[in-house]
Amino acid sequence: MKKTILVTGGAGFIGNCFCKLILKERPDWKVVNVDCLTYAANPSTIREEMKDPRYVFYREDIRRREGIFEIFKKERPDVVVNFAAESHVDRSIEDPGLFLQTNILGTQVVMDACRAFGVERFHQVGTDEVYGDLPLDRPDLFFHEDTPIRTSSPYSTSKAAADLLALAYHRTYGLPVTVSRCSNNYGPYQFPEKLIPLMIHNATHDKELPVYGKGLNVRDWLYVEDHCRGILAVLEKGKVGEVYNLGGHNEKSNIEIVKIILSELGKPESLIRFVADRKGHDQRYAIDPSKATAELGWAPTTMFCDGIKLTIAWYKENGWWLDECTSGDYLKYYDKMYGNR
Ligand code: NAD
Ligand code: TYD
Repeated sequence: MKKTILVTGGAGFIGNCFCKLILKERPDWKVVNVDCLTYAANPSTIREEMKDPRYVFYREDIRRREGIFEIFKKERPDVVVNFAAESHVDRSIEDPGLFLQTNILGTQVVMDACRAFGVERFHQVGTDEVYGDLPLDRPDLFFHEDTPIRTSSPYSTSKAAADLLALAYHRTYGLPVTVSRCSNNYGPYQFPEKLIPLMIHNATHDKELPVYGKGLNVRDWLYVEDHCRGILAVLEKGKVGEVYNLGGHNEKSNIEIVKIILSELGKPESLIRFVADRKGHDQRYAIDPSKATAELGWAPTTMFCDGIKLTIAWYKENGWWLDECTSGDYLKYYDKMYGNR
C-alpha cells in the first residue's frame, strides 16, 4: 500500500538507518526526511538516499513552526516518526536549555502539525533512560512499560517530557500516538561522542580511551537495525496509545565493551585511562522487551558478539566518515569534555 512517511532526524544515527530500511523493504512508501543537520548529522550519511526518487530531504528545524507546517502542507504525510532530538547526555549536562527546546517544544510543533493535517500515526522514538537506573547488585530487575518515570539527566528528563506530551496529545486530542523506549543502540553512522564509536576512533588513532569512573556501569546494547525493525513493527502492529519497550538482553559493563574493542582492533589495554565520572551517572539500564515480543512478534536478530564485529568492521572501512565527523568543532568539544578530566 502506498504511504508517505515523514521522519524527523533522518540524517542522524538511528533515523538514517530507519530511512534506509523503509526504502529497502517498503517499496511503495515515500520517505520525507526533515532534519536541520546539527553537529550530530554528517551530510555524507544520507548521500546514497538522496539519489533515490522515493526520498525527499528538507533541511528544517522542528522548532520552527512555519517551516514544519509548510512541509506537512506540501507532503501530506500518512505516518510521522519523530527521531529528531539532542541525544547526548554529556552535552545535556553542559547545556540543558537546548535539550528542552528541541526535545520537548520541537516534539510539540511536530505533533501540532500532525493534528492540523491529520495523520494516521505519530510515533515518538523514546529511550529507556526515562526509567532512571537500576542498581548493579539487582540483576533480577528490569524496566517494564509501567516502571515509574524517574529521570537522572537533563537529556532523559526532556525525553520523558516528550513521551508524556505525546501520550497527553493522544488522550486530550485523540492524536493516534505510539511511543517506543529503546536501550542503547550501536552500529554504523553513530556520532563519535557516544561510547562505542568514540572508543573505536581513539583506539584506531592510538589515543587514550577515557572510561568514566571505574567503567562498571552497565548498558543494554541493541544493534541499530533491530531497533528500526522494532519501530516498524510498532507502526504496523502496535496499538495506539501504547508504549513499547525495545531491548535485546545484551547487558555489558563499559569496561567490557572497551576491552572487546581493543581486542578486535589488536590494540593494548594500556590505552585505557580511567577519568572523572559523569555527574549523576546512571548505574544500569536493562529492558524487559516481552510486551513487544508478545504483541508485535518483534525480537532482536543480531547478537552482540556479531553486531560489534560488524560495527568495528564498518568504522574501519569508513574511516573517512569518522574523519569528517571529527574535524572542526569536534576537536573543541573533545578538548572541553576530556581536556582536564
Ligand atoms: P543523533 O544525535 O545521532 O541524531 C539526531 C538527529 O536529529 C540529527 O540528524 C540532528 O541533525 C537532528 N536534529 C537535532 N535537532 C533537530 C531539530 N531541532 N530539528 C531537526 N532536526 C534535528 O541521535 P540518535 O542516536 O539517532 O537518536 C535518535 C532518537 O532516538 C533520539 O530521539 C534519541 O533520544 C532516541 N534514542 C537513541 C538511542 C541511542 O542509543 N542512540 C537509544 C534510545 C533512543
Ligand atoms: P553514551 O554512549 O554516552 O550513552 P548513554 O549515556 O546514553 O548510556 O555512554 C554509554 C556509557 O559509556 C555510559 O555509562 C557513559 C560511558 N562513557 C565513558 O565511560 N566514556 C566516554 O567517553 C563516553 C562517551 C561514555
